Amino acid sequence: MRIGRGQGCGKLILFGEHAVVYGHGAVAFGLERGARACVKQGSGAVRLRMMDGAVSVGDVRLREAFGVMADVFGVDAGTLDAEVSLEVPAGAGLGGSAALAVALSRAIADFVGLQDGTQDALVERAVALSEGVFHGSASGIDQVAAMGRGLFGFRRLAAGELAIEALELPVDLKLVVCQAEAGASTSEMVGGVAAFRAREPEVVEALLEEIGAVSGAAVEALQAGDVGQIGALMDRNHALLGSLGVSTVGLDRACVLAKNAGAVGAKLTGAGGGGCVVALVDGDAGGVVDAWNLAGLTSFEVVLAAG
Ligand code: PMV
Repeated sequence: MRIGRGQGCGKLILFGEHAVVYGHGAVAFGLERGARACVKQGSGAVRLRMMDGAVSVGDVRLREAFGVMADVFGVDAGTLDAEVSLEVPAGAGLGGSAALAVALSRAIADFVGLQDGTQDALVERAVALSEGVFHGSASGIDQVAAMGRGLFGFRRLAAGELAIEALELPVDLKLVVCQAEAGASTSEMVGGVAAFRAREPEVVEALLEEIGAVSGAAVEALQAGDVGQIGALMDRNHALLGSLGVSTVGLDRACVLAKNAGAVGAKLTGAGGGGCVVALVDGDAGGVVDAWNLAGLTSFEVVLAAG
């Protein structure tokens, strides 16, 4: 039986979440881990396997997303079965929904026989529609990372176009990521910032503006390989996200634990309200990993290679 297979990357936002929704710059990269999918002839069954091994069948939003993605490739989702495995925690700020959308749409493209080079535009359209199902209005940064980008600067321009700049590092960057607590809904967190902005436009505009400035300074620090400055900017970005109301005690605690264990900088990543923290280390990551372990938080390391 013909089987279509696809893979999508998770993502990690290093700078600029939330402000990116309002046209400010952000910095992110695609994680090697993300999601894998396969599709075959069937009757519309969609199975989702989470990282902890739990399997859900027939998730309503996933079925809806599968339907709109299959449409883009001219296929009736009701004639296919799909199996998707997530390799990042769901809803924790690591771009799980975009990863699974890229994986599923690449699997559909493979199933209908589209070659890698010819499928990208359709995959991008399918993923944008799927992200609409999961997140309402998203900046699009997750899907760029999920397609497999290295480190990149990102900005959404007025006409909805995306400015994407590949960033090269002169030195390796060592990051550690932990899930501090269960994640919150991205659309609710984005909606919360929008409501805050409607109530307090001047305050929130100033915060978003400064987050954008931090991202701009971070691009320079990253390109210069200035680890101390990158860390300081991560700390600043986290404090600004706190003022925006998207941090939590659990996220703040994970940042403090990392800093006390020698991290150069630490911040929440993604929509906040829970989810993950990323810490930058200079040298050995063991101290941060141990401090988080002792607090019951599991983590993984990511090295962003120079070049
Ligand atoms: O938590 P995530 O992985 O969905 O990331 C959301 C990032 C935001 O900037 C808050 C929203 C967006 O669409 O960019």
